[in-house]
Amino acid sequence: MATTGIGMIGAGWMAGQHVEELSRRDDVEVRGVADVDAEAAGSLAGRCGARVHDGWEELLDAGGIDAVWVCTPPAAHVEVALAAFDRGIPVYLEKPIARGLAEGRLIADAAVRSGAVCAVGYQWHSLDLLAQVGELLAGRTVGLVLGRNLGPTQVRPWFVSRAAGGGNIFERASHHFDLVRLLAGGVEAVTVATSSVPLGGRPPGEGDIEDALCVVLHLCSGAMATVVVAWLRDGMPGSYGMEIVADGVSLTLELDPGFVLHGVLDGTPVRRVAAAPALRASIESFLAAVRAGDPALVVCTPADALRTLAVAAAAEAALASGATELVGDVTGDGSRDR
Ligand SMILES: NC(=O)c1ccc[n+]([C@@H]2O[C@H](COP(=O)([O-])OP(=O)(O)OC[C@H]3O[C@@H](n4cnc5c(N)ncnc54)[C@H](O)[C@@H]3O)[C@@H](O)[C@H]2O)c1
Repeated sequence: MATTGIGMIGAGWMAGQHVEELSRRDDVEVRGVADVDAEAAGSLAGRCGARVHDGWEELLDAGGIDAVWVCTPPAAHVEVALAAFDRGIPVYLEKPIARGLAEGRLIADAAVRSGAVCAVGYQWHSLDLLAQVGELLAGRTVGLVLGRNLGPTQVRPWFVSRAAGGGNIFERASHHFDLVRLLAGGVEAVTVATSSVPLGGRPPGEGDIEDALCVVLHLCSGAMATVVVAWLRDGMPGSYGMEIVADGVSLTLELDPGFVLHGVLDGTPVRRVAAAPALRASIESFLAAVRAGDPALVVCTPADALRTLAVAAAAEAALASGATELVGDVTGDGSRDR
């Protein structure tokens, strides 16, 4: 198989995670890195023997790049993604699809129009365990989902600014919105509560985002889901997972670093272990889509991620208003989320 040449645009924390995962493979080569911060670009390029480019446009036009990873902050996704689509270059686009709905729509529309392969980096979406949850639930309606996302994270200037990054709603809770939509169907409306008690994650005086929040999702099925996020002090253990409850079924999906499904189905214990960690599975499915030239083979499409962004936007509105806010119709065709 021919080696797939990869360009990394944005050379921060998440790009480093991808490079670490890509370096395990012998069918890809990270050939170029671009970042507005030349030091960050040089440091990442040094880890993988790649060339540092003077800007992402130079990287896109360099030749030998079969796919790009867009790992810039969410507000800097749209311009890069559209330029890659224009050149017919497949894109692994980090989540959330964009900071705002208008940019998210531009990306989703341009991806369809160009026919380019584009996967959005909600990596948990690629776990094989999700299909198994679907099989275990067959014929039953999920009544309740609890999502937990408690743990430390990096201070990044755009992340600690609510205006720039959307805070923990966009950055962390949206991973769970994506899974709730997948496992329990569409979200009709959203309510949000926050805690004002510092938990030690956010350095004092740094930024304006919440340390902890609880999002209640009112689902189209009539069920409900909650997603709780807490930014803990460095060194504290993380706790990431979902509880999924239906009549006769109670399942726990443990997420990061171990991916395990356990629980009870009609009195019988269930325990399954993921075939591959989420990021590896997400990269694998994207590369398979790139090699087949088939945008439909990606696991989380831009259109899907746009619907998840609409849930995050409703949560942001609910946080501001203190009221329950309806999730907007991002498709523009009046259809409800699935
Ligand atoms: N999938 C996950 O679990 C996960 C986890 C963390 C972050 N992320 C996502 O990954 C993306 C990057 O997050 P991060 O934590 O790596 O942030 P980061 O701040 O560590 O890195 C972003 C990098 O992009 C660079 N950059 C900013 N604007 C640019 C531009 N216009 N062109 C080129 N480079 C530019 C910055 O200089 C920085 O080095 C975000 O979309 C974030 O939401 C995903």
